[in-house]
Amino acid sequence: MKRLALFFVTTLPCVLFMGCGLMNASSEPPRANAVNVAAVVDDTTKQPEKVAAAVEAKPAKPQLFEPGAFEDPKVCSTCHRDIYEDWSKSMHAYAWEDKWYQPDYILAHQETDGATDMLCGACHSPIAARTGLLPPADGSKFDETSRRGISCDFCHTVSGVEQMYNMGHVSEPGNVKLGPRGDGKSLYHEVKYAEIHTKADFCGSCHMVIHPVTGVHIIDTWDDWKNNEYGKQDITCQDCHMTPTPGVSKTPGRSALMGKRRDNLAFHGFIGGSSYVQDALGNTKQAEMSREFLRAAAEVKLAEKVTDDGTLELTVEVHNVGAGHKIPTGTTYIRIMWLQVEVVDNAGKVVYSSGHVDDKNHVDPDAVFFRVLFRDAEGNLTGKSWRAHSIGYDRRIPAKGKDSETYSIPLPGKGDYQVTTRLMYRSVTQKSLDEVYERTGEALPPVVSVEMAAAQAKLRF
Ligand code: HEC
Ligand code: HEC
Ligand code: HEC
Ligand code: HEC
Ligand code: HEC
Repeated sequence: MKRLALFFVTTLPCVLFMGCGLMNASSEPPRANAVNVAAVVDDTTKQPEKVAAAVEAKPAKPQLFEPGAFEDPKVCSTCHRDIYEDWSKSMHAYAWEDKWYQPDYILAHQETDGATDMLCGACHSPIAARTGLLPPADGSKFDETSRRGISCDFCHTVSGVEQMYNMGHVSEPGNVKLGPRGDGKSLYHEVKYAEIHTKADFCGSCHMVIHPVTGVHIIDTWDDWKNNEYGKQDITCQDCHMTPTPGVSKTPGRSALMGKRRDNLAFHGFIGGSSYVQDALGNTKQAEMSREFLRAAAEVKLAEKVTDDGTLELTVEVHNVGAGHKIPTGTTYIRIMWLQVEVVDNAGKVVYSSGHVDDKNHVDPDAVFFRVLFRDAEGNLTGKSWRAHSIGYDRRIPAKGKDSETYSIPLPGKGDYQVTTRLMYRSVTQKSLDEVYERTGEALPPVVSVEMAAAQAKLRF
């Protein structure tokens, strides 16, 4: 019964509004091209209502349990102390309260008359969504457990995944805690092996967001992984993200006070690119791990030649050497990666510069950007996921792949020059923080850039 209901619920909007072909998570994401964009512009007028209607048509609660059905993470902390410490400073623990999530979520709520509440909430506050405490959108009915985002008892009572996008997890809350081993003994709960916890699909069902009406792939991490070399070799999300840093492969110890000694424990910090957020929250250790992740992902290589008329032809290659998916991935309509290029003459004078940060903390708009932006129904570029009608811009570096850009830089005269190229990353654009401030009066700390990789070259003309 339960399973049937879940299937019906999640399929309904696509039946009503678009036919289900688009909803197939394994289909290719729409690409930016002239035809695509033109089609978007033709079909504009009713888009906002359509979004609202369709998401509303999706009944609010796929699986519903009594409030309190999921246990509070504090309960688990009494025995799983280290795991609790690591998890409580992970982005999963902040998934609801996060000051970088809330303004976007509230804006989506306002612009769709609340139609997106349960869509966003299913992933960012799964316990509230599954115990009837959401809506109201503002979280005023949330209990203590719901406020703590994606927590222990949500993940460890997942018995399967029914759908590989928009959160298709099947919950079986109760005394049986499911995990990757199943051979431990606990006085508090039963322990049972669940293969799904060892699979990328477990993560993928949340790390794959598809717009319920337009079918645009908002977050495509899982699909991207599934179809690249890592996915084919089954090197999972857990393999990279449930170890403290890219170089560390084994963390021996006990997962619980009275637990068995294991030669490798699953790390629960879920480190990604969020060093700016972690620093802003005072979590300096997590912020440093996050920078290590970012640095492990990429390499920059240069090839330069000067033509007879004194033009420097500089080719910058960016290689994705460490991430199991494109870089950047995730909410790449909020995050940015870009190139900084600087040419300095012998006297230290800057003769060319691209991608620099101005005194308002904004990145040079003419820089080479690696990111995603959507087109809305009117054909304008937008970072509002709920308005995504097609992909408007998508330039990212594929796993184990590269991208390159050639700069033609006129040199001012004969002499020696030094070229510096840096691949930079920001968790969010300063423009979006400025907009949050204008809208809500909330002044979030200025975004900080992270250098992922760099390369230098000297040349003579
Ligand atoms: C009274 C102590 C205690 C409490 C409280 C406790 N656990 Fe455990 N748990 C253990 C012990 C001991 C083990 C076995 C560890 C081992 O030997 O590797 C364990 C194992 C686990 C496992 C591992 C399953 C596997 O496949 O190996 C999971 C998952 C788990 N607990 C989840 C939870 C969650 C979620 C909570 C809170 C709702 C919780 N535990 C509360 C003691 C506890
Ligand atoms: C081979 C190792 C590897 C695998 C496999 C891998 N990742 Fe990553 N991931 C990384 C590295 C390195 C980064 C840092 C670079 C970045 O942020 O783009 C990263 C970044 C991320 C981020 C942060 C994006 C950002 O910029 O904020 C998320 C989210 C993420 N991974 C999720 C996943 C999921 C989900 C999977 C499985 C489908 C997965 N990863 C598989 C290595 C891996
Ligand atoms: C986002 C989902 C998620 C959250 C939140 C989460 N876990 Fe886990 N946990 C996993 C996965 C997945 C694994 C298995 C990783 C692997 O071995 O590949 C795991 C492994 C474990 C294990 C077994 C570790 C080992 O290596 O023996 C224990 C115990 C555990 N988790 C307890 C907890 C507790 C306690 C919390 C909260 C403080 C928690 N988990 C939060 C997903 C989660
Ligand atoms: C219930 C849905 C859900 C599941 C299951 C889930 N995630 Fe996440 N994950 C999220 C959300 C939502 C965020 C972003 C929270 C925020 O920043 O507000 C996130 C954030 C992350 C980040 C932090 C990225 C950064 O920017 O620093 C990493 C890494 C990550 N997840 C990896 C994983 C891995 C690995 C698994 C599987 C073991 C997993 N997630 C399972 C929903 C989920
Ligand atoms: C299927 C699960 C899912 C749904 C539905 C979902 N998200 Fe997320 N969200 C994620 C994951 C996973 C991440 C982390 C990706 C990354 O780190 O880049 C994330 C990250 C974010 C972030 C970045 C937070 C930060 O700390 O940087 C924002 C903002 C956000 N989501 C807003 C929304 C809004 C608004 C909605 C509803 C319109 C929504 N999300 C719906 C899974 C989801």
